[in-house]
Amino acid sequence: MSNATLNWGHFTATRFLREVWQRKPLLLRQAFAGFAPLLSRAQLFALAGDEDVESRLLQRNGRRWLLDHGPFSRRQIPPVEQRNWTLLVQGVNLHVDAASELLSQFRFIPDARLDDLMISWASDGGGVGPHQDAYDVFLLQAAGRRRWRIGPVLDATLQPGKPVKLLAHFEPEEDLILEPGDMLYLPPGWGHDGIAVGNDCMTYSIGFRAPPQGELLKEVLWQLAESQHGGPIYSDPPLRVGAPPALLPPAMVKFAAQAFARLKPDATVFESVLGTYLTTPKPQVWFESPQASLASLRRACQQTGCRLDRRSKMLYTAQAVFINGEAVSAELAPSGLLRTLADQHRLSALQLKDATTGELAVLAQWCAQGWLLTGDMVAAAAATGKTRRG
Ligand code: SIN
Ligand code: CO
Repeated sequence: MSNATLNWGHFTATRFLREVWQRKPLLLRQAFAGFAPLLSRAQLFALAGDEDVESRLLQRNGRRWLLDHGPFSRRQIPPVEQRNWTLLVQGVNLHVDAASELLSQFRFIPDARLDDLMISWASDGGGVGPHQDAYDVFLLQAAGRRRWRIGPVLDATLQPGKPVKLLAHFEPEEDLILEPGDMLYLPPGWGHDGIAVGNDCMTYSIGFRAPPQGELLKEVLWQLAESQHGGPIYSDPPLRVGAPPALLPPAMVKFAAQAFARLKPDATVFESVLGTYLTTPKPQVWFESPQASLASLRRACQQTGCRLDRRSKMLYTAQAVFINGEAVSAELAPSGLLRTLADQHRLSALQLKDATTGELAVLAQWCAQGWLLTGDMVAAAAATGKTRRG
């Protein structure tokens, strides 16, 4: 269980959003005072050995960098006494409940922006080198000490021939040492270079991705194309014997352009594309279905409430509700209860008292898919200490 609470000190979340977010770095000393790492080193290394978990190992020897991708057996991970290496484990919130709970402290930022929680472990001198990210990131020092050198990127030239993107001419403006519980916020594109000072340095990166416009456009075009069922087929204009056979007929080019011009997506199309795209689980995510009938899941929901599984993603607009890459049916789209579930990640038995038959049916269906857990399942998991699968 994570009982960590973000402490703004002399700051507030409102002031942060107004003055800092996406603008400039901010160091919050003891943002999580007394923070206790959610995973031990051994647990993190074990996670890096799981084939469903994305992990990387980066080792530095002078100017040489070596990058490997997981899963890693314990023997493939260097001895902790060896200097200058780091293990990075991505998406820890998908696998560990406490990590997912930590992210709830950052819900003053829209869920649509949240990417994941990455945890790094570094030996003395370890780090990923000077770089910039296309993310807003909160770098929470969970254990040990890390020196961060940060500054605007004036020259984005990369060091040639390196397995990771390293800035060739990074000129940091600030030099900070973070202690456990300290947290550094960096806006996208801010240069940073974090080096472990001493052993057992663990940094938690809470990343918020800003999708590039081209990526969203690709998704919109893809989904629009998928929704076009055939349409008229091309027919030749009058043909002429002796015309060059290899010439691409201009009429065919015009035909394709007309198909494109006919696509006039309105705002609901963009909402639907973004809603399904941004809630689509990452490829390595899979859900476990419980061995229970729909009727019993429905009853359990009514009696004990329900909670979104940590891997589920849910968003909504005024017109639609999306979960794990799907939009709910038109009949359920206006549901306030489903919006409450999306915002609170849970519904109590009391909140479910006036649920409609349709709402209860879809909640039971989501439980059957493993997207939602009934209150009694959550209680049973807590009692056995089973906070991650396996
Ligand atoms: C790290 O934890 O070493 C890397 C975090 C980052 O630089 O984004
Ligand atoms: Co970074």
